[in-house]
Amino acid sequence: MPTQDQIREALRAVIDPELRKDIVELEMVRSIDVHPTGVVDVMVSLTTPGCPIRSHFQTGVANAVKALDGVTGVNVSFDVLSDEEKGNLQRKLGRGGPLPSGALAQVKNVICVGSGKGGVGKSSVTANLAAALTAEGKQVGVLDADVWGYSQPRMLGLGAQRPKVNEQRRIVPPEAGDGIKVMSIGFFIEEDAAVVWRGPMLHKALQQFLEDVDWGALDYLLVDLPPGTGDVSMTLAQLLPDARFLLVTTPQPVAQKVARRSAEMATKVRLEIAGVVENMSGFVAPDGERYALFGDGGGQLLADELGVPLLGKVPLTMPLREQADAGTPLVAADPDDPAAQAVRDVAKGLIALTPVALPVMQSEPEPAGLNVIPPRPVGMSLPMA
Ligand SMILES: Nc1ncnc2c1ncn2[C@@H]1O[C@H](COP(=O)(O)OP(=O)(O)OP(=O)(O)O)[C@@H](O)[C@H]1O
Ligand SMILES: [Mg+2]
Repeated sequence: MPTQDQIREALRAVIDPELRKDIVELEMVRSIDVHPTGVVDVMVSLTTPGCPIRSHFQTGVANAVKALDGVTGVNVSFDVLSDEEKGNLQRKLGRGGPLPSGALAQVKNVICVGSGKGGVGKSSVTANLAAALTAEGKQVGVLDADVWGYSQPRMLGLGAQRPKVNEQRRIVPPEAGDGIKVMSIGFFIEEDAAVVWRGPMLHKALQQFLEDVDWGALDYLLVDLPPGTGDVSMTLAQLLPDARFLLVTTPQPVAQKVARRSAEMATKVRLEIAGVVENMSGFVAPDGERYALFGDGGGQLLADELGVPLLGKVPLTMPLREQADAGTPLVAADPDDPAAQAVRDVAKGLIALTPVALPVMQSEPEPAGLNVIPPRPVGMSLPMA
């Protein structure tokens, strides 16, 4: 009968095709049990529950163990690495630390826009806030970190863009409106293609978006987070220890509860919370009448609880949604709409909160000789579905 150590050695033959290391080295072998009957149970930890290469591991582990003398059967089961274990894995892969110094040296403020819950308006707030900060004379970039449900290319009217690569082999972000620099996974994949990838790949993609994109000098880099408190937020927290968190919630108590969880996560990964934006804060009908569709006061309650300012209450208005669909943020299209005004207040509040954090640096020389790059960009190894 083989010993646990012998089985562990045999499992070094099972390679994670994405990370190109064996599962023992990656510490993905959770447990090995050898029964007197010769049956061996192996539990493998995956980075995500829906890991697409699960069956690869299943077969690989079964074959490796079956080949050992005395083994009569193999049961392979799976669990998922904890956030802490994922963090360790990323560090092990050399991707754990913050960005190399200088990568975002000319970016003064990074603001992550998030909420625990989906559909509360993170992306709409991000796009409009970008326009509002630009209107205040700020240089703004938008990083769409929602790799599964990216929406910034559409909301900022850059649907068909393909980023270019400059002479320094850095990716030039397409520009929207009055010079808002935008980067999104949506620029790199065919429309509506599904993005299926796991934590470490996600980490790498985000790292490339931060490191290999020529953001230039920015006052604000706004990061549109996906719903939830998962991998992306963890990754960004590791990469961007100085980022701040802008929490979007609706006035509803349930949304607020979820938002609080996401605030707790932000605090855990040491992202400072800049403030709260209450979105869908009543519906303003075209005649100006306001209806509190989702109740009242949730944003203020959350802000008070967290000890941070409520930076704005953005009502639901039809034009906000229409303009998002049309590709021009409402703030740019109709700055006097009540929702646009509210976002402009958020921008002013944010500016007041974020005095210039770093000395203004010389902007880099304009890149010359741009080439349009194919969907799979040169110099980038973004994992595609
Ligand atoms: N204040 C508003 N007035 C009108 N429509 C809004 C408002 N805020 C958001 N919407 C609409 O609600 C929908 C969801 O908004 P959005 O995509 O910004 O949310 P999200 O939090 O980014 O969602 P996800 O969690 O899926 O990323 C969109 O159709 C958007 O146009
Ligand atoms: Mg979104």
